[in-house]
Amino acid sequence: QADNPGWPNATDHTQEAYPVDAEFTARWTRADAMQIQRISDPDAASGESSLPEQYTMPEIDNGFPTTSEDVWVWDTWTLTDDAANQLSYNGWEVIFALVADRHAGYTFDDRHTHARLGYFYRKAGTETSSSAGSAASNGEWIYGGHVFPDGATGAIFEDQAFTAQTEWSGSARLMDDNKIRLFYTSVAFYEGSDSDYGGGDDGGTGKPYDPRIVQSEGRIYADDQGVWFTGFRDQHELLVPDGHYYQSRIQNPNVNFRDPFTFRDQNNPADTTDYMVFEGNTAYVREPEYVEAAAAAGQNTELATCTAEDLGYDEGDPQAETVDEVNALGGRYQLANVGLARATNKAMTQWEYLPPLLSGNCVNDQTERPQIYFQDGKYYLFTISHRETYASGMMGPEGVYGFVGNGLRSDYEPLNDSTGIALGNPINLNFNPGKPYAPDWNQSPYTYQSYSHYVMPGGLVESFIDSIGGNHDATPVRGGSLAPTVRILISGSTSSVDRTYGDGGLGGFGHIPANLSRSNGGDV
Ligand code: FRU
Repeated sequence: QADNPGWPNATDHTQEAYPVDAEFTARWTRADAMQIQRISDPDAASGESSLPEQYTMPEIDNGFPTTSEDVWVWDTWTLTDDAANQLSYNGWEVIFALVADRHAGYTFDDRHTHARLGYFYRKAGTETSSSAGSAASNGEWIYGGHVFPDGATGAIFEDQAFTAQTEWSGSARLMDDNKIRLFYTSVAFYEGSDSDYGGGDDGGTGKPYDPRIVQSEGRIYADDQGVWFTGFRDQHELLVPDGHYYQSRIQNPNVNFRDPFTFRDQNNPADTTDYMVFEGNTAYVREPEYVEAAAAAGQNTELATCTAEDLGYDEGDPQAETVDEVNALGGRYQLANVGLARATNKAMTQWEYLPPLLSGNCVNDQTERPQIYFQDGKYYLFTISHRETYASGMMGPEGVYGFVGNGLRSDYEPLNDSTGIALGNPINLNFNPGKPYAPDWNQSPYTYQSYSHYVMPGGLVESFIDSIGGNHDATPVRGGSLAPTVRILISGSTSSVDRTYGDGGLGGFGHIPANLSRSNGGDV
């Protein structure tokens, strides 16, 4: 029985909870992701969005304010506690962000191999607006500089001959008193690193880039002039991919492994374990030529392949693709997962892997900056993804995807009629996407308007501006500044964008408020 004539049914997900250490990984299936195309308007005109308005971010005017004249700003997060509450400290709101020098001669698109972790602060309670066309405030964030002393985050690499070394996303936990544990990704690139993020492409014979999840401890101080830190010198390496649950750089030199987010299970207060979700890939070997090295390292040697479970179609669904068809399309190259680990000591310097919470094998290659959001006794898994990282035959917007379940590990159901879209950029799925620096002629000019969305308490969502305009052969305006905050209303297995929030749905630029305050010496 087809629910929607002409389209396959989505996979039935029960939301049922499993023990955290169970060998059960929820699947974001091709049958699920196909629902995105089902709700896309096949008649949407050139330059228009083809997605329903309730799932899309309102359009951002290209006259946005610059967050910092010194640095481009992208992935951003706050000081949090174990429940992802956002804490001000001694009357200041504090954000951490990936930053790169605007004036060093490289382009915005080359920022990834120059990324440093920077911080900003502003008076708690600052309210700003994004009223269209006005000289809207940039959020009044004051740039505090880099978090880590120069050279500190590269010290963990045994091979110091890297050509670039960067600090990528993570999260920050304010502990007792003024102690901060900063979780982030340290990445080394080597001559001939075969990575989409740079370092050249020599067919994979170079030394693959090396992403590792790291923790560093520091202390925060504030007076009426501003905020500063001490510490952040010593780096504790926490995790490298094991090649069993999580694909290693041996199995795939372009592996995705990054973006740690730690929390405790707020629906189960008896469990005082510190958990971490992160961006990973399923631990298959990408190409036959990597099998030998994977075997030598004691890792999984199975070649990537798509299974009937990854496709997730109902038996006998006349609209279903076959496993052979999907494998012939190359679906096996896209192997996203959301990883789970748990701390085995109080200082959170030692971690053990658990099976992934979610896989998107043969659907998408990247489930980035994952986070767990608690509401009404449910677990919401939010993660960001790209139009361009979908597997062949699948597509969806840049933005936040959401999944809901009854446990931290559960048979997660994609929100919103199984589409999974919680907040997408406007995009026209009837046309090619193009690139952020050159969107397709027929695309919505807002296809790449913002990215790296993070869902904050109360359903507020912050992100950074990437690229606005540029269809119809115009040159896009590039971002590197904080986007207007928006709000999504989350309820059961649905969510929608609140267009009554702010100005037509757009709140202040970089409106990243604290919802709790902490002062010097206070407890968590
Ligand atoms: C998301 C992201 C993160 C990564 C960073 C690198 O925008 O791809 O996954 O940490 O950007 O710049």
